[in-house]
Amino acid sequence: MSVDTRQANRRRNRHAGQAQVWLFGYGSLIYKVDFPYIERRPACIRHWVRRFWQGSHDHRGTPQAPGRVVTLVPQPDAVCIGMAYLITPAVFAQLDLREKNGYLRCTTEIDFGNGEQAEGLVYIATAENAAFLGPAPEAEIARHIAASSGPSGPNRDYLLQLATALRELDAHDPHVFDVERHLIDLLASQRGADQR
Ligand code: SIN
Repeated sequence: MSVDTRQANRRRNRHAGQAQVWLFGYGSLIYKVDFPYIERRPACIRHWVRRFWQGSHDHRGTPQAPGRVVTLVPQPDAVCIGMAYLITPAVFAQLDLREKNGYLRCTTEIDFGNGEQAEGLVYIATAENAAFLGPAPEAEIARHIAASSGPSGPNRDYLLQLATALRELDAHDPHVFDVERHLIDLLASQRGADQR
């Protein structure tokens, strides 16, 4: 599958006739809200886990030196906490551009945690997209992130802002927090080496 998913997402316009659609965000969509929304609520989706397995050619890296950003990977019984936004379908033009590096709009059941659920959409970069990097040990992912940067800024900022946003949501994500811990250790040892 091509890396640029804009065309594929335009064809996935099942919600075009609706006045409003729920979008579930689990990565930068939690903390970088540069799109209009009607309402936002903490929420979760089931049977998916967040992983730094997607390459970023356009935001936190380049095609020559991709960064690492999160996608969702299927896992039975898993719960992924994030933020749900109620938006108008017109906003997808902007979101498809932002998420064009491998992410496809997928339908999901969103759980608001108070007995309320709604069908909505989530951007997922599957293993079939050409930018998918796949699994690696958390320490290696942290080294990769420490060394990457792209048009949206250093890859480390993506990780640190996501970890902060997840703490604010009371979401314990062992994978993200492990990569964050390795990154912080790495940055501290780099600072120590610079001072010697
Ligand atoms: C998301 O945040 O929901 C998708 C991945 C990203 O943009 O970081």
